[in-house]
Parts: sequence; C-alpha cells; structure tokens
Amino acid sequence: MARRIKIFDTTLRDGEQSPGCSMNLKDKLDVAESLALLGVDIIEAGFAICSPGDFQSVQAISRQVRGVTVASLARATEKDIDAAWDAVRDAENPRIHIFLATSPIHMEYKLKKTPDQVFEIAKTMAAYARNKCGDIEFSLEDASRSDPAFMYRIIEAVINAGASTINIPDTVGYAEPEEFAGIIRGIKENVPNIDRAVISVHCHNDLGLAVANSLAAVRAGADQVECTINGLGERAGNTSLEEVVMNLHTRKDYFDVVTGIDTTKIYQTSKKVSKATGVRCQPNKAVVGENAFAHESGIHQHGVLANRATYEIMTPESIGLPHNKMVLGKHSGRHALEERLSYLGYQVSEDQLNRIFTDFKDLADKKKTVSDRDIEALVSGAHGGIPEYYKLDRFVINSGSSITSTAIVRLKVKDGSLVEKVAIGDGPIDASLNAVDKIIGGSEIKLEDFSLQIVDAVDTGADAQGETYMRITRDGRTWNGNGVSTDVVESGIKAYLSAINAMTYELEGAEKI
Ligand code: KIV
Ligand code: ZN
Repeated sequence: MARRIKIFDTTLRDGEQSPGCSMNLKDKLDVAESLALLGVDIIEAGFAICSPGDFQSVQAISRQVRGVTVASLARATEKDIDAAWDAVRDAENPRIHIFLATSPIHMEYKLKKTPDQVFEIAKTMAAYARNKCGDIEFSLEDASRSDPAFMYRIIEAVINAGASTINIPDTVGYAEPEEFAGIIRGIKENVPNIDRAVISVHCHNDLGLAVANSLAAVRAGADQVECTINGLGERAGNTSLEEVVMNLHTRKDYFDVVTGIDTTKIYQTSKKVSKATGVRCQPNKAVVGENAFAHESGIHQHGVLANRATYEIMTPESIGLPHNKMVLGKHSGRHALEERLSYLGYQVSEDQLNRIFTDFKDLADKKKTVSDRDIEALVSGAHGGIPEYYKLDRFVINSGSSITSTAIVRLKVKDGSLVEKVAIGDGPIDASLNAVDKIIGGSEIKLEDFSLQIVDAVDTGADAQGETYMRITRDGRTWNGNGVSTDVVESGIKAYLSAINAMTYELEGAEKI
C-alpha cells in the first residue's frame, strides 16, 4: 500500500508572518475552514505568544475548525509552551510545535548557548510540553546547517522526552535536494528510536528549491511536509502546498505515496488566500498561476485540441478549475447562480448569496455573458460575512491629463442614510478615496498597497472586469479589501470600502464572528 504523507499547512503562521501578508481574524478563520476542507492534516494556526491577536486567532481556530490537528508554534521556553497550550487546548486534536536552533551560527550568535546547554533545553522543554499535550512536534531550527551528530543526539533525547514528530527545517533555504535527502537518510540510519516519530520537513525557497528539497526528503523517507498555500512565507517563501501535492499526485508512478488532499479544492483555496492576504500569485506560477493551463502557441493549441495529454500533464479540473461552457447572463436567476457557485466549489451563506446576486445582476446588465472567472471575482468581492457599513451608491469623476481630478462620491451608510462628499486628488482613484475619507472621517487611514488586475480569461478584453486589491493600515494594524467592477475606478472605490468595512467590523466588533 502507498505510504501516506501528512500535509502540515503553515500559511497562517510562517505565511502570515511574512511582511505584507497579515490577515484579520475573520479571514484567518475562513482560510482555516478552507484548509480543513482541502484535507490538510495539520493547520499551524499561529504563534500564540507572539501577540494577543495571534493568541486569539489560534484559540478561535482551535475552537471552531474540526477534522484537523491544530498547532501553535512555541519557542523552547515554559512561557511560550504555556501560551501555545492555552491557545490550542480546545482543539479536537491539539499540537504544540516547539522550535530550537541547532546550527553552530544560531547557537552562538542568536541563542548565545553552548551545544550542551541547547541539548538540555531541548530535552527539558519537550518533556515540559508533553506533560500538557499528547502531540508534540520538535523542530531543529536551521537543521540543514547543523552538525548531523549533534542533531542525532537531540532527536533521540526529545523523542524519549515525548516528541512524536521531528521537524527538519531548511530555515534559510540553503540545502540542495540530494544533500537534504541525505540528511533525512542520516537521521533514519543513526537515531535509534526514530521509528517512534514522524519525520517532517520544512523548507524555504531562497534558492528556489523548497519544493524540490521537500520532494527529495519524501523520497528519502520523510512522512510529513510543511508548506503554505501559494508558497507564501518569509523572504522567498515556503514550500508551496499545491506544487508539492500535485507533484505527488501527478507523479504517483515515481513517488508511490498518497496525501489526504482533495486536489479539486486547490484552486479555490489559493484564490481565498490571495484575497485574504492581498498577495497575488505570479501569472506563470506552477499549478495555480493564471497561465498555468493557458496554451498560447498555435502548435500547442493544435496538440491540445487533438489530445489534451500532448501538452497537459494534469487537467485544470484536477485542481478545481472547471472548463464549463454554459454561460450565465442577465436572464439567469438566483437558483442558476447558486448552482454555479456550488459547482465552482463555493459554499456561501444566504446573506453572501444575496449580495453576490445583486452584483451579478449589475454585471449581467453591463456584460452579455458572465463567465466562471467573473463569478469567482464576484465571490472574492463579496468579502466574507462582513457587514457593509459603507456601500458605494454612486460616483462622478472629472479627470484628465491637464486638470486636477475631482470626485463626487455618495455612500450608503449602514443606518440607511446617504452621504455625499467632493474631493480632489492625484488622479481619479486618489480623488475618490479622498472623498470616501471625508465621509467616514478616515484621515488616519493609510493606503499601504494597491494593485489592479484585469480579469477575464474567457471572453474578449472588451468585456473584462477590473479587480482591485488594497491594503490599508491604521494605528499599525492592517486590513485588506478587494473590489470588482467593469469600471476600474469603481473597483478601486469598492476595494477601499471593503477594507474599511473589515476594519470597522474588527474595531467596533459590532457583529460576532
Ligand atoms: O523555518 C523555520 O525554521 C521555521 C521553524 C520555526 C519551524 O519556521
Ligand atoms: Zn519557516
């Protein structure tokens, strides 16, 4: 029987901890639910001691998300382990994930400890954590630059102290595949009690080898891979979940292993993470990039039409990208939209469906046909279950190359009132956002990031929609928003309002999650 590889997802910890990827609590819960549906075995929900916000999200995920193990990261100290345990104790399957550096450079300059001191801390803290929680993972930070003999000693000791998963990180993305596989083989051959633990790997992508190193480790006997959706993570990112899983799946003949991942949920989960973080994938990203299944050259198109396998090693359907020719338009009803949403893998609440349906009708008035890609954009514009404290009612722009842009924006406020303001700005979007700021009193809000993408892979460019992502900050906290419209200025205003609604929701806490 094929060996089962566990997928440990750290999008919400290593992914989220990288600059520009922060998510709010609502988005984290939403992503965690999607990861559980995707079939990951372990969700690393955060680093509980890191901040009250991190603690709260690890605890909320532990209490809400079922069918998976929920882990919190902890340094090898009692304080960290206590916080991690308090945050995960209500999970169906809680795990404490302790890490401690074992490389000479980290021990000397970061920890300022001798190898013997590190050995003692590792052993004591693994035992301390095991007294609280039945599932302990121990990571040897910077393992790929550590002395193998020292690692064997520590691994044997922490397994004896109660660790049941040993994680070998290539923390700085330094290892080469054959070399990394050799580290795993060395551990299997030299640690006498290794059969009592699962060997895990955790790779970073500094040299573009995170996926290759993880796969080489699987071939060498690792049974758990740590990864993130879209390869998010520190610096150049972590091992990309979708790439590792689709390698194992597409080349089962080579790896002869299985995972618990439902690959048809990959595309949707990738989209959800892009939306929650505001970080899009590059178009040529393997598996989930916009062009991953696009055949541009005539020769390739000809081949694919004759037999898809000529140029497609995996089908778009296998990652949940359906090729569906049935089109929706302005005569389509709510039921047809609901069916299409569920076909595309979206489970939406009644409230979200109402909102998406209203936007769908607006869009169908402007476009002849509404494609699956349009519908995905509408879903991502619906912004979870966050109430619309402010909704765009109408706007008028006066702009050009030789005049100062002016915008008149009218918003519908949650109490039903309409408020209109006029503002000038550096271009039509800037003027519009300034008008919004005047309405909501948003002078302390800073726009951190802004990106616009034209969406429509199916129809001609003439019918395309603009999809805008924005990130705003206030008092050091961050919120993301996105907006979709056939008008790019409107998509910008909607994105800004979506981030403002997320901020208001969190700061006012008016509705419970
Ligand atoms: O990269 C790393 O070493 C880590 C550990 C905390 C597992 O993220
Ligand atoms: Zn890492």
